[in-house]
Amino acid sequence: MPVVRDKEIEVLFSASAIARRNLELAKDIAAHDYTDLLVISVLKGSFIFAADLIRAMHDVGLSPEVEFIFISSYGAGTTSGEVRVLRDIDNEVKGRDVLLIDDILESGKTLKFTRELMMSRGAKSCSIAVLLDKRMRRKTDLDADYVGFDCPDYFVVGYGMDVAHAFRELPFVGVVKGDA
Ligand code: IMP
Ligand code: MG
Repeated sequence: MPVVRDKEIEVLFSASAIARRNLELAKDIAAHDYTDLLVISVLKGSFIFAADLIRAMHDVGLSPEVEFIFISSYGAGTTSGEVRVLRDIDNEVKGRDVLLIDDILESGKTLKFTRELMMSRGAKSCSIAVLLDKRMRRKTDLDADYVGFDCPDYFVVGYGMDVAHAFRELPFVGVVKGDA
């Protein structure tokens, strides 16, 4: 087991499994014939997944524009969860096909809010790609159009995802097991 910050980390999804899956997702996205595609990476957790997925998209012949939005979701897993935009995109979405990229779909509140925001601004479509789906945690009717992996109900880290800003650098997705 890898040891990072004196903790053992159990690998759930390896770097090579993620890379293979990213290419499949990119092919699925390419099969949809979006026109004028605008990819929006939902920060912070999605930054590594988005970086890899857009390069896989290039490898299958897509040329999206790429933007970033900073969404905060306090208590996203609870009914009192409040979602707001901390830093918005700079681009117009009116009439465009938008693809939101996020790390994990859990309650669905963050991405439901963000999709509704894009549609209210006149996006032609707004689809969603997530690396991980925790379906058992859903509190909305939202589903992703492109899912990397179904995720067991553990708190996961790595590949952009953090505990208090740590572990984002791991090239795999894992679970912190305890002291090594
Ligand atoms: P929700 O779908 O609105 O509940 O929010 C999901 C967000 O919660 C994700 O984008 C992550 O930022 C965060 N999150 C949920 N589960 C985990 C986890 O296991 N590790 C790290 N972040 C998580
Ligand atoms: Mg997030």
